[in-house]
Amino acid sequence: MTQINENYLKLTGGYLFSEIARLVKTFREENPSANLVRLDIGDVTEPLAPAVIQAMHAAVDEMAVRSSFRGYGPEQGHGFLREAIAKNDYQSRGADIDASEIFISDGSKCDSGNILDIFGADNVVAVLDPVYPVYVDTNVMAGHTGPADAAGRYGGLVYLPVTAENNFVPDLPRQRVDLIYLCYPNNPTGVVASKEMLQRWVDYAHQNGSTILYDAAYEAYITDPSIPHSIFEIDGARDVAIEFRSFSKTAGFTGVRCAFTVIPKGLKGKTQDGREASIHSLWNRRHNTKFNGVSYPVQRGAEAIYSPEGRQQVRATIEIYLTNARLVREALKKLGIQAYGGVNAPYVWLKIPGSLSSWDFFNKLLREANVVGTPGSGFGACGEGYFRLSAFNSRANVEEAGKRLAKII
Ligand code: MLT
Repeated sequence: MTQINENYLKLTGGYLFSEIARLVKTFREENPSANLVRLDIGDVTEPLAPAVIQAMHAAVDEMAVRSSFRGYGPEQGHGFLREAIAKNDYQSRGADIDASEIFISDGSKCDSGNILDIFGADNVVAVLDPVYPVYVDTNVMAGHTGPADAAGRYGGLVYLPVTAENNFVPDLPRQRVDLIYLCYPNNPTGVVASKEMLQRWVDYAHQNGSTILYDAAYEAYITDPSIPHSIFEIDGARDVAIEFRSFSKTAGFTGVRCAFTVIPKGLKGKTQDGREASIHSLWNRRHNTKFNGVSYPVQRGAEAIYSPEGRQQVRATIEIYLTNARLVREALKKLGIQAYGGVNAPYVWLKIPGSLSSWDFFNKLLREANVVGTPGSGFGACGEGYFRLSAFNSRANVEEAGKRLAKII
């Protein structure tokens, strides 16, 4: 028989959100009349912006005519979208990023996992705890870890705790690490990173020859002007960081699929015998070989987000989710529950009252309130005793969830 990649056998369970979907499905089958409110996976509910729809329709019409039909596009993405991103998301914020440093893709989840293709197997990898599980699981799959211990921590990974005790600000690693995953606004805790904090990480990366993998999928939720939207707003970051961005949460593209990764041309890695290699070139090579680009109508839809109408429409939807987050926080506060995040972010992270574990609280909410959230321990051992509620739902459902929580807590 053919051999398998045994690293997959080290994974302690299914992918967190698939597991929750499975539990919800079983619950629905057993309780067909239950009207569930889903505040678990961060999946958008509001329709696409009219400007996006219009641009996608126009692009589909182009595809219907021989003279404007397009086949394969550039694997890295069309120039019109890369230019719009460079100008609006980076240069306008003083971040020196060129369109040629932007790689359009179908998702940040995919990119943050696939990026491991171009890094060596012996790198020491640091993640926050709790953390978006993709960073951990993809390192396990790639064979970068040992087995998990009883708390679910994989051998070989450096975990940096973020809890209420340290105000969710991770300490710099005590040992040297090669790759560092950072996500701000943070998933799952909903906290943000100041410029000073990111500067400390960039300085650490310079001093230690490390690379920061910066996930900014939720940057559009930042309303505080002092909070950086990109790692590339930080001095020196161009030499030490890669950034992942997505249109999923920015513009409701979870079902449309469009994202991008930014790799500055000067970013270098090294070979085992000490020669320098361009990370941009390696990713470009990988992209050309393993990816055929995002569909043309989708890229036109993404471009429309940067038009004056597009911006306004997308902003209005983000405001809906941010208000939802505020309502969730307020509902929790009224119940005397300590909540974090949810101000410049769509996730609210709460300390579970009493002594219930994260999964016990999940079950209590599901069974007694028909509300679905995400157990904090699913994001890592330090998430035990915490719970995540997402603001991605309709206003009516978020208000309903608040009322139901009040009845059972
Ligand atoms: C989440 O709920 O954490 C996200 O929706 C997961 C994702 O974006 O892949």
